Order: sequence, then C-alpha cells, then structure tokens
Amino acid sequence: MICTVNKEISFVSNLQRGDLMEQIQLYKYVSKEYDERYYFNGSEENTDIEKTLTDFIYKYEIRSVLELGCGTGYWLNILYKLGLRNLLGIDGSKYMLSVGKQKYGKYLKFLKANILKSDFKLGKYDLIMCNYFLSLINFDEIDNLLMKIFSIDSEYFFIIENTTFDECINSQTITLTEKWGNKIIDISYFVYRAGELIKKIENVGYKLIEFTSINEDVVVYIFKKRFKNNKGE
Ligand SMILES: C[S@@+](CC[C@H](N)C(=O)[O-])C[C@H]1O[C@@H](n2cnc3c(N)ncnc32)[C@H](O)[C@@H]1O
Repeated sequence: MICTVNKEISFVSNLQRGDLMEQIQLYKYVSKEYDERYYFNGSEENTDIEKTLTDFIYKYEIRSVLELGCGTGYWLNILYKLGLRNLLGIDGSKYMLSVGKQKYGKYLKFLKANILKSDFKLGKYDLIMCNYFLSLINFDEIDNLLMKIFSIDSEYFFIIENTTFDECINSQTITLTEKWGNKIIDISYFVYRAGELIKKIENVGYKLIEFTSINEDVVVYIFKKRFKNNKGE
C-alpha cells in the first residue's frame, strides 16, 4: 500500500529495489542542493540532533566512527569539530562524495562503495552511524544489511531517521514528487515504523539504549551490541 503524505519530506530516494545505479542518477541532481536544503544554519531540528549526538559521544567516550551512507559528510564533520580524528564515511554516490571532499576532504576520509555489496573488511570502530540511510534500503534487503552492520567490529550503532507519519500505521513505501535543480523526480522511500525498526535491529543482536524523538518526524536511535558476533556468542 502506498501512503501519500501531503508535505515535504527531508530525505529522498527513487530506488527500485535498492538499485544503486538509480540512486547514483538521483543523487547527481540532489547533491548540489542537498546541504543547502537540509543543513542550513540554525535549523532547530539539526541543532537538537547535534546535541543528542554530542552528549552520546561524550557519555560513551566514542573515539572512532564509521558512517554508512555518509552523503556529503555533514555529520562526520560535526564529529571532527568535537575533536574526533578516526572518521570514515562510505557512500555509493560520487556526486555526494565530491561535495563532501570539496568541503572536508582535507581532514575527513571518504570511500566510494555500494554498501549492500561490500564485505566490510574495515577494521574496528567504536561507533557505526546510519543517518537518513536505512530508509533507502528496501524491505527485502534491510535484514541482510543489519546483519552485515552487526558483523563489523564496533560496539555502538547510532541512527538518525525519519519515522512513519501519523497517517501510516505500519512501515510504508511512500512516493512523493520533488524538485531538485530543474528536475522533477518521483521519489519512493522506505519508512520504517519505529517499533518495527527497533525489533529488526534487536533481532540481529543489538539492544536499544537510547531513543530520542527530535520532532514528530525524526528519531535518533542508539543501540549497543548484546553479543560480540551475530551467532550470539
Ligand atoms: C539521504 S542521504 C544521507 C546522507 C547523510 N548520511 C546525511 O545524513 O546527510 C543517503 C545517502 O545514502 C547513499 N546510499 C544509498 N544507498 C547506498 C548504497 N547501497 N551504498 C552506498 N551508499 C548508498 C546515497 O548515495 C546518499 O548519499
């Protein structure tokens, strides 16, 4: 069922079954305006998320962070400003990465890869972040991706994500029409209901340790591993 919501959303995809080629095409148009649209100065939403992220980083003494689907690197740069130096962002779109490299390339490390296909031989990170990324992963692929994430040597998992709107009781594919540059694009994305997403992530071996509702659409989830590996050992 498609649930149509009559308001602007704050992230996008026009993925058909997680096809990265489509994603790359889409982000070609999105990348030029992305930061301007979502990360303009003084947004209350971003200020609140930044505070939640900062408190978490200090409280759990996080020193190294891997962001999957890092886009233009906005959140990694926030961490750099907090003093963290072991930071890596992975993204499949060369367009998003080139914006990130232009802005922060002197001190942030970026890697281009299709996260659904990579085998994650990446070393150890205190934290993995997925910000506005899981909603680009279709319902058939999310469980495999979560298992992959769990297999990375890392204790904490931090997620910023749009959650379902009031009109949608369950996780939904939502399709909207958006304008990026001079392109009008029909955009579908996978919105996970908070309870369902938590259950999926806990099923692979994490435990939810913090849940912060930033506003009516955006949630920050923080998980910690219950086990060291995905065999429950
Ligand atoms: C909505 S943006 C979020 C960017 C950033 N995390 C942020 O919070 O601003 C989603 C990003 O996920 C990337 N992405 C989507 N599917 C991917 C995949 N399979 N492999 C790698 N990157 C992917 C897109 O290229 C895009 O840059």
